[in-house]
Amino acid sequence: MKTLNKIAAAFLSAALLIGMTSCGAAKKNLKILDTAYAVEDYAMAISKDNEPLKAAIDQALKELTDDGTIPSIIEKYIPSGKTVEKKESVKGEYPDFSTIQEGKLIMATNAYFQPYEYHEGDAIVGIDPEIAKAVADKLGLELVIEDVEFDSIIAGVQAGKYDIGCAGMTVTEDRLKSVNFSTPYATGVQSVIVVEGSEITDVDKLLAGNYKVGVQTGTTGDIYMSSSVEDGGVGEDRVERFAKGNDAVIALQSGKIDAVVIDNEPAKAFVAAANK
Ligand code: ARG
Repeated sequence: MKTLNKIAAAFLSAALLIGMTSCGAAKKNLKILDTAYAVEDYAMAISKDNEPLKAAIDQALKELTDDGTIPSIIEKYIPSGKTVEKKESVKGEYPDFSTIQEGKLIMATNAYFQPYEYHEGDAIVGIDPEIAKAVADKLGLELVIEDVEFDSIIAGVQAGKYDIGCAGMTVTEDRLKSVNFSTPYATGVQSVIVVEGSEITDVDKLLAGNYKVGVQTGTTGDIYMSSSVEDGGVGEDRVERFAKGNDAVIALQSGKIDAVVIDNEPAKAFVAAANK
C-alpha cells in the first residue's frame, strides 16, 4: 500500500510538473505522428534533353551502391546500427555525355533539409552533396552546388541551368513529365508533425478535421495536402506554404498552424531543434 501510494504520488507530481511546464511555456513541444502519410523514392532530376548524362549517372549510382559507398553515406547521416560492407569499387566505361559547363556537374539543391542537405559553416553538407560528389568523381567532373528555392529546381533543370536537381527529391508522375529521374538512391516517408497533446492523433484525424496544414512550397507534402479531400488532401484553403520546411515548423510551434507535413528525416531534425 505504502509503495503504491509512493508510486501514485510520483505519478501525480510528474503529471503536475508536465502540466505546469506546458501551461507556463509559450513554446510547445512537438512530436511526429506514428502514422505516416506516404512512402517515396528520392532520385536526381536530369534534363530530358540529356539522356546520355542520365545513363552515365545511373551507371555511377549502380557502382556506388554495389561497392557500399552510397549505403555508407546514408548510414553516416541516418545511423541504423547496421555495418555496411565495403567492396572493391569497379569503374566501368561510361557512355559519352556532356554537361552544361565542360568538366563541371552543376547541382541545384535547397540546403535547409537536414540530413539530406544543410549548411555547416560555409559548406553545404549532407547525404545528397556526398552522393553527388561521389558521382561527379566517377564521371571525372567537378561538383558545383547551387542553393536555390526548392520549387525552382525542376524548372531550372528543364531550362538547362543545372545539370542535376539533387534535393531529397521525390520521383512523381507529374515531375516525370518535365524531367528524367536517375535510379532512386534513397527512400523518404511523408510524416506529420503536431504539438505534444494535439487532438490530431493520426493522419485520418488530420484529413477529417478543419486544421491548417503547413508545407514547404512545391514539395510533395504541398502537392498531397493541396489536393482535394476526395484525393486524400485537405484542399488548397487549409494549406499554408512556407519557403523553408523549418519556417512551417516554427509557425506550428507558435500556434499559427495545426500540423506540418514533411519528409521524416528533416522532420526529426526540425523537431529535435524545436524541442531543445
Ligand atoms: N521529398 C519532397 C519532394 O520532393 C521534399 C523535398 C524537399 N527538399 C529540400 N531540399 N528542401 O517534394
